[in-house]
Amino acid sequence: WPFMAPYVKAINELKRERDAVILAHNYQTPEIFHCVSDIVGDSLQLAVEATKVKASTIIQCGVHFMAETSKILSPEKRVLIPDSRAGCSLASSITGADVRLLRDKFPGVPVVAYVNTSADVKAEVDICCTSSNAVQVVESLGVDRVIMVPDQYLARYVASQTKVKIIAWKGACEVHERFTGDELRVYREADPSVKIIAHPECPPDVLAEADFTGSTAHMINWVKTKHPRRVVMITECSMADNVQAELPDVEMVRPCNLCPHMKRITLAKILDSLVYLREEVTVDPAIIAPARRSVERMINLKN
Ligand code: 13P
Ligand code: SF4
Repeated sequence: WPFMAPYVKAINELKRERDAVILAHNYQTPEIFHCVSDIVGDSLQLAVEATKVKASTIIQCGVHFMAETSKILSPEKRVLIPDSRAGCSLASSITGADVRLLRDKFPGVPVVAYVNTSADVKAEVDICCTSSNAVQVVESLGVDRVIMVPDQYLARYVASQTKVKIIAWKGACEVHERFTGDELRVYREADPSVKIIAHPECPPDVLAEADFTGSTAHMINWVKTKHPRRVVMITECSMADNVQAELPDVEMVRPCNLCPHMKRITLAKILDSLVYLREEVTVDPAIIAPARRSVERMINLKN
């Protein structure tokens, strides 16, 4: 870590000079998460916080759809992402044109889009959801059938929690779909007291083995409140490093699946972002308003 200290110092100084705030997702590495970020959280928390930012510039340490969501919610602000190639296998699995085809196929059925989608998709749907509020969003529509895009596994998880019938798209998260129920059973057999908590982007055989399923923020909260002796966090593995720094006495059993997109963001690129004010995230002004309607409809749901 010592070689990182000059970056941390330079970023924190330049951030003030540039009137910038750093929003970081729970999957960012510990030196970003703990040393230079102003606001951290899951995708819902980051979207909500993006509506409250006072600074003129947002540096989004996460993937591209997260930066787009910030831009949609705060179009008057400069939104920068340290590496615009930070994509997402879910966001790239569907386009706005695909949503229009789904509407033709299932007329009158509302469409819920996971926030892990492009602005173009958000502009075509009725409402967004995240993994923290997906069941609540689906039930808020008051209908017996909804289309959920693009994560087939989140859709299956929601279907298991509600009476609403879910029509799913075929997308998947390339990080979470790699976990298997078999590997979880190996952890359990080695230590029957171990706790296993999993993200709903995982396949059903994985969720069947989990003691708790929830968004990244809900998983963190679960570990902080339950304080297990040993826990396996079935999600992107930087999150376990971030929680470990706060809870040194909880033993993290770490299957390490990294998100290659999240890992494109580094201290060096954040510093470049602040020095050169790049890479600026833009959203077609014609789709900002309809995309914002879908995100705000979700944010405005009462808890
Ligand atoms: P949440 O932080 O909303 O749980 O999402 C997980 C994820 O994979 C984001 O890319
Ligand atoms: Fe997308 Fe999965 Fe990476 Fe999250 S972890 S950004 S859902 S590919």
